[in-house]
Amino acid sequence: MAREDKVLIFDTTLRDGEQAPGASMNQREKMEVALALERMGVDIIEAGFPVISKGDFESVSLIAGKVKRSAVAGLARAVRKDIEAAAEALKAAKKPRIHVFLATSKIHLEHKLRKTPDEIVQMAVDAVKYARSKCDDIEFSPEDASRSEKQFLYRVLEAVIKAGARTVNIPDTVGYAMPDQYGKLIEDIRNNVPNISKAVISVHCHDDLGLAVANSLAAVKNGARQVECTVNGIGERAGNASMEEIVMALRTRHDYFGCSTGIKTVEICRTSRLVSKFTGFAVAPNKAIVGANAFRHESGIHQDGVLKEPTTYEIMRPEDVGFTGLGLVLGKHSGRHALKARLKQLGIELSDEQLVRAFERFKDLSDKKKEVFDEDLIAIVEDEAREVRDIWTLEGLAVKSGLGVKPQVEVRLRSAGKVHTRQATGDGPVDACYLAIDEITGLKGKLLNYGIQSVTQGKDALGEVRVRVAFDDRKIIGIGASTDVIEASVKAYLNAVNKACSSTKSKGKAKTIDFGLQP
Ligand code: KIV
Ligand code: ZN
Repeated sequence: MAREDKVLIFDTTLRDGEQAPGASMNQREKMEVALALERMGVDIIEAGFPVISKGDFESVSLIAGKVKRSAVAGLARAVRKDIEAAAEALKAAKKPRIHVFLATSKIHLEHKLRKTPDEIVQMAVDAVKYARSKCDDIEFSPEDASRSEKQFLYRVLEAVIKAGARTVNIPDTVGYAMPDQYGKLIEDIRNNVPNISKAVISVHCHDDLGLAVANSLAAVKNGARQVECTVNGIGERAGNASMEEIVMALRTRHDYFGCSTGIKTVEICRTSRLVSKFTGFAVAPNKAIVGANAFRHESGIHQDGVLKEPTTYEIMRPEDVGFTGLGLVLGKHSGRHALKARLKQLGIELSDEQLVRAFERFKDLSDKKKEVFDEDLIAIVEDEAREVRDIWTLEGLAVKSGLGVKPQVEVRLRSAGKVHTRQATGDGPVDACYLAIDEITGLKGKLLNYGIQSVTQGKDALGEVRVRVAFDDRKIIGIGASTDVIEASVKAYLNAVNKACSSTKSKGKAKTIDFGLQP
């Protein structure tokens, strides 16, 4: 592939993605995501905004020390203390990059920064020069570029490239651009910034009007050679351009773009699941590339066509993105070896102890459910792995509830070999169960969010519950799965309680709970 035909993938899941309200991940989770991104072949991983908090600083420096194949970037405003923090956090990186940003639109200059255009050019140049004194690889972003006055934008870009920026990023910060306009902006930059050939043009699009991917692709068509994106498209407000959509569009329509990326696409679904699990953001079933329905054919005519020749209705092969599909994989009579082999095919390696427990859950499920799909297996294993080192485990649950009946529950939890039982009533059976758990554990959780989704289709499907619970100032995501939705709700809450207990015990040190899905 000629150099200019390669589109670099700059992943900002851990920075802009994590800025999405409620998407925060802990350090161990961020590290797992970073390693998954490296394994996928992401060119640059933006690991965080080091000056913003001690936690961000630490996770950028931990990731910088561990990731070797991808470049690791840290974000900085165009001020010395941000650049110093980024340089310090990236000290251990094999390929460090400092990403400096400064707004260039009139609206930001007048209302946010209260600076004149000349002052902005000077600040940008000073910042890039200072960053260059600490690191060779500097990226500069004129924030809100798509709403900036073009002549001023050209002036800033020329100046920062002269000052040493190797990549110039053109953010559509508020998701305002239209694809043809944005493509034209990239073309105009190529034609009007005299030294543009000395830098890679990057794009960074937000999805406020649902156009982040379309805008990014229009930019590639017009010469951009780096795309900034996030896994599952998570990010500030409506999110960022989705990495999997960009990568698969470039790959599927190579005939149109003539560009490729270095992404190992078979890792896409696994990484998508990981990010969804850690952020607690479920992937919509109809989400392109990674949604549960992305390769599912419901209409008889389509099914018939696909059976005769997949390309009749499939423009991508599901296996190319690591999509495990809805294959009916195992039945009631399948043994432990078959389970182990199938899990291995799904990229899940379990310890003997985990396998024994997963097998028990599988047998239990296959008694309740006619068909066991890959999604069910993944949900069981994740659920089981969550419980392996739990301080509190669910021992028993009895629920009495109905129309006009005050719900009554009895919850039994085990901890350190002792069983604790509480009865409670509440606004509903779930509320009553959560009150009983609070009483037993002595922790007072405040339920912030509750969501339920079926893992597969049908009345007997597994339900997966995700909760976000606040324990004092800590907000923790819990996930639980079961064919019984009350049980799934209890498991999700208990998962959050256990995470809260283990993070209290480790007093801020990185947690070591093994979810069993590590590479
Ligand atoms: O959206 C934006 O403008 C940004 C910049 C920091 C690149 O995220
Ligand atoms: Zn952004």
